[in-house]
Amino acid sequence: MQKGEELYRGKAKTVFHTSDENKLILEFRNDTSAFDGEKIEQLARKGEVNNKFNHYIMQHLEAAGVKTQVEALLSDNESLVKKLDMIPVECVVRNYAAGSLCRRLGVEEGTELKPQTFELFLKNDALHDPMVNETHAIAFGWASQDQLEQMKALTFKVNDILVPLFKQGGMLLVDFKLEFGLDTNGNIVLGDEFTPDGCRLWDAETKKKLDKDRFRQGLGLVVESYIEVAERIGLSL
Ligand code: C5P
Repeated sequence: MQKGEELYRGKAKTVFHTSDENKLILEFRNDTSAFDGEKIEQLARKGEVNNKFNHYIMQHLEAAGVKTQVEALLSDNESLVKKLDMIPVECVVRNYAAGSLCRRLGVEEGTELKPQTFELFLKNDALHDPMVNETHAIAFGWASQDQLEQMKALTFKVNDILVPLFKQGGMLLVDFKLEFGLDTNGNIVLGDEFTPDGCRLWDAETKKKLDKDRFRQGLGLVVESYIEVAERIGLSL
């Protein structure tokens, strides 16, 4: 498997072609960004930690019956993945109120959400990833109704699998974002990543933040907290 040309450089990952046209390499970089790229820093070891964290979670999800893009860990910072035709909407499930939900609705951070909520956001940096609904996604051709139903069901399934995993490690999975794509057969497959960059995790007792909010809010000990999360769920880094 030869690493080929760069296909796309995102804010924290770079995607490369490979000698197999149906496979890509994801390179997790140390770059850490927030507020649509307004705040960017290099954090030592973050690429390695997120690459290994993502692989561990994706394996756990595969074992529980969720199809994911991940094929293999290639190196500290690189994973081999299936090439997907990515659907340009982000799926967010929330178990507790935080972040943009609190800003939008004025609700108190930490409020338990019953039922858990599901939101869609358009992936568009220039527009700051606006919230959209299912009819927008269908009307503008980003996804079909059937694909949206599958994405929603899969996002809740991932929540059902991961809430107990983090609970065993004494943590609350507050919320998270997933992205899906289509494989060569048109099946919906979980893509992108699941790392503390794209979810919120709090210590269940103290409510200490252990995710990217540490970076957004300037709390420090960002990568150290990601490593703590990994170790609490059985991955030593
Ligand atoms: O900012 P907001 O509260 O809407 O984020 C909800 C969840 O989705 C958080 O866990 C956040 O880290 C994640 N997210 C993300 N990428 C984005 C927007 C949100 O990973 N572009």
